[in-house]
Amino acid sequence: MSGIRRQPWTGGAGGLTTTAAIGPVIVATVGAPIVVVLALAEGTPGATTGPTGAAGATEAGVAVAAGSVMGVERRNDTPIYRARHDPWQSRRGRGRTRHTLSSSALGPARMNYRHHYHAGGAADLLKHLVLMILVRRLQAKPTPICYLDTHAGTGLYDLGHEMSQKTGEYTRGVARLWAIRDILPKPLGDLMRIVASHNPDDTLRMYPGSPRVVRALLRPGDRMVACELHMKDILRLQDEFRGDPQVSAHHRDGYDALKAFLPPKERRGLVLIDPPFERADEFTTMLANLKVAHDRWPTGCYALWYPIKGPVARGKLHAALLHGTIRRVLSVELYTRPAREDDTLAGSGLILVNPPWRTDAVLRGVLPVLAKHLAEDDGDDPHLRARVEWLVGE
Ligand SMILES: C[S@@+](CC[C@H](N)C(=O)[O-])C[C@H]1O[C@@H](n2cnc3c(N)ncnc32)[C@H](O)[C@@H]1O
Repeated sequence: MSGIRRQPWTGGAGGLTTTAAIGPVIVATVGAPIVVVLALAEGTPGATTGPTGAAGATEAGVAVAAGSVMGVERRNDTPIYRARHDPWQSRRGRGRTRHTLSSSALGPARMNYRHHYHAGGAADLLKHLVLMILVRRLQAKPTPICYLDTHAGTGLYDLGHEMSQKTGEYTRGVARLWAIRDILPKPLGDLMRIVASHNPDDTLRMYPGSPRVVRALLRPGDRMVACELHMKDILRLQDEFRGDPQVSAHHRDGYDALKAFLPPKERRGLVLIDPPFERADEFTTMLANLKVAHDRWPTGCYALWYPIKGPVARGKLHAALLHGTIRRVLSVELYTRPAREDDTLAGSGLILVNPPWRTDAVLRGVLPVLAKHLAEDDGDDPHLRARVEWLVGE
């Protein structure tokens, strides 16, 4: 569960390469002094001491936060996909669907993370609900949109698979909502209708990943570009969408994709950045790449997922954005239990940049319902566990 989800692994040398260095927004705005002030304010001694093993990420404040908070631990019980070389480098251009497999994207990757362990868990539900609301709000205008999914995973997850069964995360996530799907308020009910469309015999078995959730919403003129680096997942994704003229699926690094595909020709749309948080410096990398993407496409809508494992890393992420140059930043968070100082997952959040009009109001209406059903204890009022706040305004 949280132990398996998005664990950083030791050793930076074998890591996936990200193409952007720490961006000026982070270096300039979240230097060491801010890190220290935050750490003192939160009373978290570890936060002032620097990284505990984050490879090559000691310069910026956010990197220090990520390293010290997330910890660095390698689990051996998750499957490891290791690519020595990739003979595939082709562009399959049947019809208008373009799916690409590239050797350069693989590198010496060690990809422990398998989303199947977490499919249909609380974090997926929050993310997919927010995605759905964003797409719908964007579609309030008739002009076409483009959806870019930088870390797409695959399309459908079989909850009967041993990976789902091992963690049982879906039992505390989608299974709870499935049981009451007919009485859920509208946006949540709509998400469950998408889930139901993949379970035609009325028994919960399959859970859709982000590409499937968004595909269910696309209008004829809309388009989706999905990127995934794990070979098994990208092959499955490409199979699922083969022949679909509105979808292209690429075997490539998700952060590279921001440079390759932005801005989209539609000039309207949404980017989901949903990395596995295997690396201790993922917070820093994600923010740096947001800056790169935003420079290329300042009017695009962005959604960045992150885990909440304690107050510090999340606080520093928010501080980086508060003191940064990007405007219109909304934070959306859902806690399934109170945040602790330890490394266990308390919830998850999304940073939204340029959310469409009234997204905040829709989220404020529905998130407490989600929080109520996903709570892992009888703790707080669900309104305290569902947080929607503007970090930066116009
Ligand atoms: C959290 S999962 C994605 C879940 C998916 N977005 C969803 O909501 O259903 C992260 C995915 O990123 C993939 N991944 C890891 N490193 C990547 C990279 N550098 N570029 C693209 N994908 C990557 C992993 O294999 C994994 O499938």
